[in-house]
Amino acid sequence: MRIAVFASGNGSNFQAIATQFKTAVALVFSDHHDAYVLKRAAHLGIKSVSIELKDCQNKEDYERKIVTLCEENEVSLIVLAGYMKIISKTLLDAYKGRIINIHPSYLPDFAGSPHAIEESHARQHGCGVTVHFVDEGVDTGEIIAQERLAYLPDLCAYEKSVHDLEHRLYPEVIGRFLK
Ligand code: GRF
Repeated sequence: MRIAVFASGNGSNFQAIATQFKTAVALVFSDHHDAYVLKRAAHLGIKSVSIELKDCQNKEDYERKIVTLCEENEVSLIVLAGYMKIISKTLLDAYKGRIINIHPSYLPDFAGSPHAIEESHARQHGCGVTVHFVDEGVDTGEIIAQERLAYLPDLCAYEKSVHDLEHRLYPEVIGRFLK
């Protein structure tokens, strides 16, 4: 099975996935030409492609290009890792049940929040990490795996505990698909 990792920015989750499953990663896709994840991909010798929505006629055209890209590269699982666009019908229909996402909270807590770590920290709430299938909603698809994390007063330590868990949990889940 070949996977595509979609990321909009930093790409630390991509790095964790690619380190474990380099030969399974067909490509990295980004919606920003200057995303740092593209540099990480180059460094690891993994193909990367970026397409910006503003260069497409509309979201459907944008997603049709992505579907073509994935099909041409024989991708059978799309792994969203910090990809900040909502997946719409064109891509969902083409890859039904074959798109997964990671969210830095114990869903349904902080569903849809782009700042789930900061929000949960501000509320001294504790959080967690969830890997789930992607459906029409935002962070609403069937849950594949999730773990809780305790609140830590120090925000940096708290953030680090979330990312450390993400970098362990996501490859673990992807490994199950690759079997
Ligand atoms: C992660 O916290 C992920 O859960 C969220 O976006 C962040 C991406 O981080 N969806 P990175 O780009 O993988 O470093």
